Amino acid sequence: RKKIRRISTGVRSLDELLGGGIETRAVTEVVGEFGSGKTQLCHQLAVMVQLPEERGGLGAKAIYIDTENTFRPERIMQMARARGLDPDQALNNIFYARAYSSDHQMILVEHAKSIVKQHNVALIVVDSVIAHFRSEFPGRENLAERQQKLNKHVADLLRLADAYDVAVVITNQVMAQPDVFFGNPLRPAGGNILAHGATYRLWLRKSKENIRIAKIFDSPYHPEGEVSFRITEEGLID
Ligand code: GTP
Ligand code: MG
Repeated sequence: RKKIRRISTGVRSLDELLGGGIETRAVTEVVGEFGSGKTQLCHQLAVMVQLPEERGGLGAKAIYIDTENTFRPERIMQMARARGLDPDQALNNIFYARAYSSDHQMILVEHAKSIVKQHNVALIVVDSVIAHFRSEFPGRENLAERQQKLNKHVADLLRLADAYDVAVVITNQVMAQPDVFFGNPLRPAGGNILAHGATYRLWLRKSKENIRIAKIFDSPYHPEGEVSFRITEEGLID
């Protein structure tokens, strides 16, 4: 395997679960129900990647492709401040793009490539990877086309990640009852394709109040078991 780098999540237990943080040259799929913390984790990673290596980052910038209009600049600034970064500078180090359709989303990955060539980018976020595909290709009759397009999209992202030593994080909402979530995991909305296209799947679920629980699925390299973290004003913490 080629040499990989890691970006700390800023949560020690989550980093341990991930073997040190999220990996470059890989697509990490964050799966979970609404409110489980997928978007919050994406925001935090876009800040963490900017930290110097001795603090868990890669001293690099991020690209953030937002499909649901849930990117919050103030939240980035809040998290940056909590990590001792200049909030305005932290925001400036994130190349933000809103994707208005699945086609647009796929074009943005092409644009991302040219940004990655010119700038020190080590993280690409696509939050959510699935939303446009799901609404544009509804129902069983469109499933094959949807999966084919989604498969290409994730393959494009993986190629980009591998070629430029960048970490890619994509999110995928699933509906599940919290109590059956881990015992009987439902197939994520992307179906088999994402399971095969993404390198790792990190599952998040809600616990009481601001506590969230994370687990990794389908990975021979990662430990079994769950870890918990909290979502606070400062961001995600142990
Ligand atoms: P969907 O996109 O709907 O699937 O959900 P998600 O998994 O992206 O959830 P998200 O990351 O948006 O998490 C939402 C939760 O994070 C909220 O329920 C809040 O508990 C918490 N949260 C979000 N912003 C803040 C904030 O500024 N301060 C604090 N303390 N908590 C926050
Ligand atoms: Mg979200």
